[in-house]
Amino acid sequence: MDLKIAVLPGDGIGPEISEQGVAVMTAVCEKFGHKVEYTYAICGADAIDKVGDPFPEETYRACMDADAVLFSAVGDPKFDNDPTAKVRPEQGLLAMRKKLGLFANIRPVETFDCLVHKSPLKEELVRGADFICIRELTGGMYFGEKYQDDEKAYDTNAYTRPEIERILKTAYEYARRRRRHLTVVDKANVLASSRLWRQIAKEMAPQYPDVETDFMYVDNAAMRMIQEPKFFDVMVTENTFGDILTDEGSCITGSMGLLPSASTGEHTPVFEPIHGSWPQAKGLNIANPLAQILSVAMLFEYFNLAEEGALIRRAVNASLDALVRTPEIQAEGGGKYGTKEVGAWIVDYIREA
Ligand code: IPM
Ligand code: MN
Repeated sequence: MDLKIAVLPGDGIGPEISEQGVAVMTAVCEKFGHKVEYTYAICGADAIDKVGDPFPEETYRACMDADAVLFSAVGDPKFDNDPTAKVRPEQGLLAMRKKLGLFANIRPVETFDCLVHKSPLKEELVRGADFICIRELTGGMYFGEKYQDDEKAYDTNAYTRPEIERILKTAYEYARRRRRHLTVVDKANVLASSRLWRQIAKEMAPQYPDVETDFMYVDNAAMRMIQEPKFFDVMVTENTFGDILTDEGSCITGSMGLLPSASTGEHTPVFEPIHGSWPQAKGLNIANPLAQILSVAMLFEYFNLAEEGALIRRAVNASLDALVRTPEIQAEGGGKYGTKEVGAWIVDYIREA
Protein backbone atom coordinates (compact mmCIF):
# COMPACT_ATOMS: atom_id res chain seq x y z
CA MET A 1 0.00 0.00 0.00
CA ASP A 2 1.11 3.59 -0.66
CA LEU A 3 0.70 5.86 2.33
CA LYS A 4 0.92 9.65 2.36
CA ILE A 5 1.31 10.85 5.91
CA ALA A 6 1.12 14.43 7.16
CA VAL A 7 3.32 14.73 10.24
CA LEU A 8 2.42 17.49 12.72
CA PRO A 9 4.96 17.43 15.57
CA GLY A 10 3.63 20.60 17.28
CA ASP A 11 4.98 21.84 20.59
CA GLY A 12 6.80 20.77 23.74
CA ILE A 13 7.72 17.10 23.66
CA GLY A 14 5.79 16.76 20.39
CA PRO A 15 8.81 16.82 18.04
CA GLU A 16 10.70 14.22 20.12
CA ILE A 17 7.90 11.67 20.26
CA SER A 18 6.97 12.42 16.67
CA GLU A 19 10.47 11.41 15.57
CA GLN A 20 10.05 8.02 17.25
CA GLY A 21 6.57 7.53 15.80
CA VAL A 22 7.89 8.22 12.31
CA ALA A 23 10.87 5.89 12.82
CA VAL A 24 8.53 3.06 13.85
CA MET A 25 6.19 3.77 10.97
CA THR A 26 9.10 3.68 8.51
CA ALA A 27 10.42 0.41 9.94
CA VAL A 28 7.01 -1.25 9.67
CA CYS A 29 6.53 0.00 6.10
CA GLU A 30 9.95 -1.34 5.10
CA LYS A 31 9.16 -4.69 6.62
CA PHE A 32 5.78 -5.09 4.94
CA GLY A 33 6.72 -3.45 1.64
CA HIS A 34 4.53 -0.35 1.93
CA LYS A 35 5.64 2.89 0.35
CA VAL A 36 5.36 5.79 2.74
CA GLU A 37 5.84 9.49 2.10
CA TYR A 38 5.89 12.14 4.84
CA THR A 39 4.94 15.79 4.63
CA TYR A 40 5.82 17.85 7.70
CA ALA A 41 3.60 20.75 8.72
CA ILE A 42 3.49 23.23 11.58
CA CYS A 43 0.73 23.72 14.14
CA GLY A 44 0.09 24.99 17.67
CA ALA A 45 2.32 27.53 19.43
CA ASP A 46 5.10 26.79 16.95
CA ALA A 47 2.83 27.92 14.10
CA ILE A 48 1.62 30.98 16.04
CA ASP A 49 5.23 32.03 16.50
CA LYS A 50 6.07 31.43 12.85
CA VAL A 51 2.96 32.61 11.00
CA GLY A 52 0.48 33.85 13.61
CA ASP A 53 -2.03 31.02 13.12
CA PRO A 54 -2.13 27.72 15.09
CA PHE A 55 -3.58 25.78 12.12
CA PRO A 56 -2.38 27.57 8.98
CA GLU A 57 -3.91 27.02 5.58
CA GLU A 58 -0.78 25.23 4.38
CA THR A 59 -1.04 22.73 7.23
CA TYR A 60 -4.72 22.21 6.45
CA ARG A 61 -3.79 21.52 2.79
CA ALA A 62 -1.09 19.04 3.85
CA CYS A 63 -3.66 17.21 6.00
CA MET A 64 -6.28 17.17 3.26
CA ASP A 65 -3.74 15.81 0.75
CA ALA A 66 -2.63 13.00 3.07
CA ASP A 67 -4.12 9.57 3.79
CA ALA A 68 -3.60 10.09 7.51
CA VAL A 69 -2.22 12.64 9.94
CA LEU A 70 0.29 11.70 12.61
CA PHE A 71 -0.18 14.38 15.22
CA SER A 72 1.82 14.84 18.41
CA ALA A 73 0.85 17.64 20.80
CA VAL A 74 0.18 21.37 21.03
CA GLY A 75 0.32 23.84 23.90
CA ASP A 76 2.74 26.24 25.51
CA PRO A 77 2.66 27.81 28.98
CA LYS A 78 3.37 31.26 27.59
CA PHE A 79 -0.22 31.25 26.29
CA ASP A 80 -1.78 29.61 29.37
CA ASN A 81 -0.42 32.38 31.54
CA ASP A 82 -1.58 35.16 29.28
CA PRO A 83 -5.34 35.80 29.52
CA THR A 84 -5.05 38.53 26.88
CA ALA A 85 -3.63 36.21 24.20
CA LYS A 86 -5.84 36.62 21.13
CA VAL A 87 -4.94 33.30 19.63
CA ARG A 88 -4.05 30.09 21.46
CA PRO A 89 -2.46 26.81 20.36
CA GLU A 90 -5.59 24.87 21.39
CA GLN A 91 -7.61 26.79 18.81
CA GLY A 92 -5.47 25.09 16.19
CA LEU A 93 -6.59 21.71 17.46
CA LEU A 94 -10.25 22.70 17.38
CA ALA A 95 -9.83 24.17 13.89
CA MET A 96 -8.21 20.96 12.71
CA ARG A 97 -11.06 18.86 14.11
CA LYS A 98 -13.71 21.06 12.54
CA LYS A 99 -12.05 21.51 9.15
CA LEU A 100 -11.25 17.82 8.76
CA GLY A 101 -14.74 16.88 9.98
CA LEU A 102 -13.28 14.65 12.70
CA PHE A 103 -16.51 13.92 14.49
CA ALA A 104 -15.47 10.65 16.13
CA ASN A 105 -12.70 10.56 18.68
CA ILE A 106 -11.76 7.02 19.65
CA ARG A 107 -9.94 6.84 22.97
CA PRO A 108 -9.07 3.36 24.21
CA VAL A 109 -8.67 2.82 27.95
CA GLU A 110 -6.38 -0.14 27.95
CA THR A 111 -4.35 -1.44 30.85
CA PHE A 112 -0.91 -2.98 30.70
CA ASP A 113 -0.48 -5.80 33.19
CA CYS A 114 3.02 -4.77 34.17
CA LEU A 115 1.86 -1.26 34.98
CA VAL A 116 -1.40 -1.73 36.86
CA HIS A 117 0.38 -1.10 40.14
CA LYS A 118 0.83 2.49 38.95
CA SER A 119 -2.93 2.98 38.84
CA PRO A 120 -4.51 5.04 41.62
CA LEU A 121 -7.15 2.28 41.82
CA LYS A 122 -6.80 -1.12 43.45
CA GLU A 123 -5.06 -3.57 41.18
CA GLU A 124 -7.91 -6.06 41.12
CA LEU A 125 -10.28 -3.38 39.83
CA VAL A 126 -8.00 -2.31 37.00
CA ARG A 127 -6.34 -5.52 35.84
CA GLY A 128 -8.03 -6.52 32.59
CA ALA A 129 -10.02 -3.31 32.19
CA ASP A 130 -10.31 -2.64 28.48
CA PHE A 131 -12.83 -0.26 27.02
CA ILE A 132 -13.02 2.51 24.48
CA CYS A 133 -14.64 5.86 24.80
CA ILE A 134 -16.07 7.30 21.63
CA ARG A 135 -16.30 11.02 22.06
CA GLU A 136 -18.26 13.22 19.66
CA LEU A 137 -15.69 15.81 18.60
CA THR A 138 -17.15 18.51 16.37
CA GLY A 139 -20.41 19.51 18.07
CA GLY A 140 -21.92 20.44 21.39
CA MET A 141 -20.72 23.26 23.62
CA TYR A 142 -17.28 23.42 22.06
CA PHE A 143 -18.72 24.71 18.82
CA GLY A 144 -22.21 25.99 19.73
CA GLU A 145 -23.21 29.64 19.86
CA LYS A 146 -21.34 31.52 22.57
CA TYR A 147 -21.82 34.85 24.26
CA GLN A 148 -19.90 36.72 26.92
CA ASP A 149 -20.11 40.13 28.52
CA ASP A 150 -19.29 41.20 32.06
CA GLU A 151 -22.71 40.22 33.41
CA LYS A 152 -23.71 37.20 31.39
CA ALA A 153 -22.15 34.38 29.40
CA TYR A 154 -23.35 31.22 27.74
CA ASP A 155 -22.26 28.29 25.59
CA THR A 156 -24.89 26.43 23.63
CA ASN A 157 -24.94 22.65 23.69
CA ALA A 158 -26.58 22.07 20.33
CA TYR A 159 -26.77 18.72 18.55
CA THR A 160 -28.66 17.80 15.40
CA ARG A 161 -30.10 14.42 14.47
CA PRO A 162 -27.51 13.69 11.74
CA GLU A 163 -24.66 14.53 14.13
CA ILE A 164 -26.04 12.14 16.74
CA GLU A 165 -26.86 9.39 14.28
CA ARG A 166 -23.42 9.28 12.71
CA ILE A 167 -21.55 9.08 16.02
CA LEU A 168 -23.92 6.40 17.34
CA LYS A 169 -23.40 4.44 14.13
CA THR A 170 -19.63 4.61 14.64
CA ALA A 171 -20.08 3.45 18.23
CA TYR A 172 -22.29 0.51 17.25
CA GLU A 173 -19.77 -0.55 14.64
CA TYR A 174 -16.99 -0.55 17.24
CA ALA A 175 -19.19 -2.48 19.68
CA ARG A 176 -19.82 -5.11 17.01
CA ARG A 177 -16.08 -5.66 16.59
CA ARG A 178 -15.59 -5.91 20.35
CA ARG A 179 -17.64 -7.40 23.18
CA ARG A 180 -20.96 -6.09 21.83
CA HIS A 181 -21.83 -3.87 24.74
CA LEU A 182 -22.56 -0.18 24.18
CA THR A 183 -23.14 2.32 26.98
CA VAL A 184 -24.68 5.62 25.91
CA VAL A 185 -23.60 8.26 28.41
CA ASP A 186 -25.76 11.39 28.77
CA LYS A 187 -27.57 13.68 31.19
CA ALA A 188 -31.07 13.01 29.91
CA ASN A 189 -32.62 13.73 33.30
CA VAL A 190 -31.68 17.41 32.83
CA LEU A 191 -30.55 18.28 29.31
CA ALA A 192 -32.73 18.46 26.20
CA SER A 193 -29.73 17.67 23.98
CA SER A 194 -29.18 14.48 25.98
CA ARG A 195 -32.83 13.52 25.64
CA LEU A 196 -32.48 13.70 21.87
CA TRP A 197 -29.32 11.52 22.05
CA ARG A 198 -31.21 8.97 24.10
CA GLN A 199 -34.27 9.04 21.85
CA ILE A 200 -32.16 8.46 18.73
CA ALA A 201 -30.11 5.71 20.41
CA LYS A 202 -33.37 3.93 21.31
CA GLU A 203 -34.54 4.24 17.72
CA MET A 204 -31.27 2.80 16.40
CA ALA A 205 -30.78 0.00 18.92
CA PRO A 206 -33.11 -2.49 17.14
CA GLN A 207 -30.84 -2.28 14.06
CA TYR A 208 -28.07 -3.75 16.21
CA PRO A 209 -29.82 -6.63 18.02
CA ASP A 210 -26.46 -8.32 18.57
CA VAL A 211 -25.28 -5.39 20.68
CA GLU A 212 -26.51 -4.83 24.22
CA THR A 213 -27.28 -1.12 24.65
CA ASP A 214 -27.52 0.54 28.01
CA PHE A 215 -27.89 4.13 29.14
CA MET A 216 -26.07 5.85 31.94
CA TYR A 217 -26.10 9.38 33.30
CA VAL A 218 -22.69 10.99 33.04
CA ASP A 219 -22.32 11.56 36.80
CA ASN A 220 -23.03 7.89 37.39
CA ALA A 221 -20.64 6.89 34.60
CA ALA A 222 -17.83 8.94 36.18
CA MET A 223 -18.38 6.96 39.37
CA ARG A 224 -18.78 3.58 37.71
CA MET A 225 -15.52 4.07 35.81
CA ILE A 226 -13.56 4.01 39.02
CA GLN A 227 -15.73 1.52 40.89
CA GLU A 228 -15.99 -1.04 38.13
CA PRO A 229 -14.02 -0.09 35.00
CA LYS A 230 -14.42 -3.62 33.68
CA PHE A 231 -18.15 -2.98 33.27
CA PHE A 232 -17.49 -0.99 30.10
CA ASP A 233 -16.78 -2.16 26.58
CA VAL A 234 -17.70 0.76 24.31
CA MET A 235 -18.93 4.04 25.71
CA VAL A 236 -20.29 6.83 23.51
CA THR A 237 -20.90 10.38 24.57
CA GLU A 238 -21.04 14.03 23.57
CA ASN A 239 -18.01 16.30 23.21
CA THR A 240 -17.80 17.87 26.68
CA PHE A 241 -18.65 14.74 28.66
CA GLY A 242 -16.17 12.81 26.55
CA ASP A 243 -13.42 15.33 27.26
CA ILE A 244 -13.88 14.89 30.99
CA LEU A 245 -14.41 11.13 31.06
CA THR A 246 -11.42 10.37 28.86
CA ASP A 247 -9.05 12.21 31.21
CA GLU A 248 -10.49 10.11 34.01
CA GLY A 249 -10.09 7.00 31.88
CA SER A 250 -6.49 7.72 30.98
CA CYS A 251 -5.39 8.00 34.57
CA ILE A 252 -7.17 4.80 35.63
CA THR A 253 -4.70 2.80 33.59
CA GLY A 254 -1.77 4.22 35.53
CA SER A 255 0.00 5.20 32.37
CA MET A 256 -1.20 8.27 30.53
CA GLY A 257 1.97 8.13 28.45
CA LEU A 258 0.78 4.90 26.87
CA LEU A 259 -2.60 5.82 25.48
CA PRO A 260 -3.09 6.59 21.79
CA SER A 261 -6.21 7.89 20.08
CA ALA A 262 -7.77 8.21 16.67
CA SER A 263 -10.05 10.91 15.33
CA THR A 264 -12.02 9.99 12.27
CA GLY A 265 -14.79 11.48 10.23
CA GLU A 266 -15.33 13.14 6.89
CA HIS A 267 -11.78 13.75 5.71
CA THR A 268 -8.27 12.62 6.68
CA PRO A 269 -8.13 10.71 10.00
CA VAL A 270 -5.76 11.92 12.72
CA PHE A 271 -3.78 9.69 15.08
CA GLU A 272 -2.32 11.17 18.24
CA PRO A 273 -1.34 10.42 21.82
CA ILE A 274 -3.86 11.36 24.51
CA HIS A 275 -1.29 13.22 26.58
CA GLY A 276 -0.37 16.84 25.99
CA SER A 277 2.79 18.74 25.12
CA TRP A 278 4.46 18.55 28.58
CA PRO A 279 6.54 21.69 27.99
CA GLN A 280 8.65 21.17 31.13
CA ALA A 281 10.12 18.01 29.61
CA LYS A 282 10.89 19.50 26.21
CA GLY A 283 14.32 18.49 24.94
CA LEU A 284 15.14 16.35 27.99
CA ASN A 285 14.71 12.99 26.24
CA ILE A 286 12.46 11.71 29.03
CA ALA A 287 9.01 11.72 27.40
CA ASN A 288 7.43 8.33 26.83
CA PRO A 289 7.10 7.74 23.07
CA LEU A 290 4.76 4.74 23.47
CA ALA A 291 1.44 6.59 23.12
CA GLN A 292 2.71 8.09 19.87
CA ILE A 293 4.01 4.72 18.69
CA LEU A 294 0.69 3.06 19.56
CA SER A 295 -1.03 5.82 17.57
CA VAL A 296 0.90 4.50 14.60
CA ALA A 297 -0.52 1.04 15.38
CA MET A 298 -4.03 2.54 15.33
CA LEU A 299 -3.20 4.19 12.01
CA PHE A 300 -2.31 0.88 10.40
CA GLU A 301 -5.36 -0.79 11.90
CA TYR A 302 -7.56 1.95 10.48
CA PHE A 303 -6.39 0.90 7.01
CA ASN A 304 -7.10 -2.75 7.87
CA LEU A 305 -3.39 -3.48 8.14
CA ALA A 306 -3.93 -5.59 11.23
CA GLU A 307 -0.63 -7.48 11.12
CA GLU A 308 1.32 -4.23 11.02
CA GLY A 309 -0.61 -2.91 14.00
CA ALA A 310 -0.16 -6.16 15.89
CA LEU A 311 3.59 -6.13 15.34
CA ILE A 312 3.84 -2.65 16.85
CA ARG A 313 1.77 -3.74 19.84
CA ARG A 314 4.01 -6.79 20.30
CA ALA A 315 7.12 -4.62 20.12
CA VAL A 316 5.70 -2.22 22.71
CA ASN A 317 4.81 -5.05 25.08
CA ALA A 318 8.25 -6.59 24.59
CA SER A 319 9.94 -3.27 25.44
CA LEU A 320 7.91 -3.04 28.66
CA ASP A 321 8.75 -6.65 29.56
CA ALA A 322 12.44 -6.04 28.85
CA LEU A 323 12.31 -3.01 31.16
CA VAL A 324 13.24 -0.73 28.32
CA ARG A 325 11.08 2.02 29.75
CA THR A 326 11.16 5.78 30.20
CA PRO A 327 11.75 6.98 33.78
CA GLU A 328 8.12 7.55 34.85
CA ILE A 329 7.26 3.86 34.44
CA GLN A 330 10.64 2.27 35.04
CA ALA A 331 10.71 -0.54 37.61
CA GLU A 332 13.26 -0.81 40.37
CA GLY A 333 16.49 -2.23 38.99
CA GLY A 334 15.60 -1.24 35.42
CA GLY A 335 18.11 0.73 33.39
CA LYS A 336 17.96 4.31 32.20
CA TYR A 337 16.25 4.80 28.88
CA GLY A 338 15.05 7.97 27.23
CA THR A 339 12.60 8.76 24.45
CA LYS A 340 15.21 7.96 21.78
CA GLU A 341 16.44 4.73 23.33
CA VAL A 342 12.92 3.32 23.76
CA GLY A 343 12.08 4.26 20.18
CA ALA A 344 15.30 2.76 18.82
CA TRP A 345 14.74 -0.49 20.75
CA ILE A 346 11.27 -0.83 19.26
CA VAL A 347 12.56 -0.12 15.76
CA ASP A 348 15.20 -2.85 16.19
CA TYR A 349 12.59 -5.29 17.47
CA ILE A 350 10.45 -4.64 14.41
CA ARG A 351 13.36 -5.07 12.00
CA GLU A 352 14.38 -8.34 13.59
CA ALA A 353 10.87 -9.76 13.99
C1 IPM B 1 -8.43 17.05 24.51
C2 IPM B 1 -7.96 18.40 25.01
C3 IPM B 1 -8.63 19.47 24.16
C4 IPM B 1 -10.13 19.32 24.32
C5 IPM B 1 -8.19 20.90 24.46
C6 IPM B 1 -6.68 21.05 24.39
C7 IPM B 1 -8.88 21.91 23.57
O1 IPM B 1 -8.25 18.57 26.35
O2 IPM B 1 -8.11 16.70 23.36
O3 IPM B 1 -9.09 16.34 25.26
O4 IPM B 1 -10.70 19.86 25.29
O5 IPM B 1 -10.74 18.68 23.49
MN1 MN C 1 -9.22 16.85 27.28
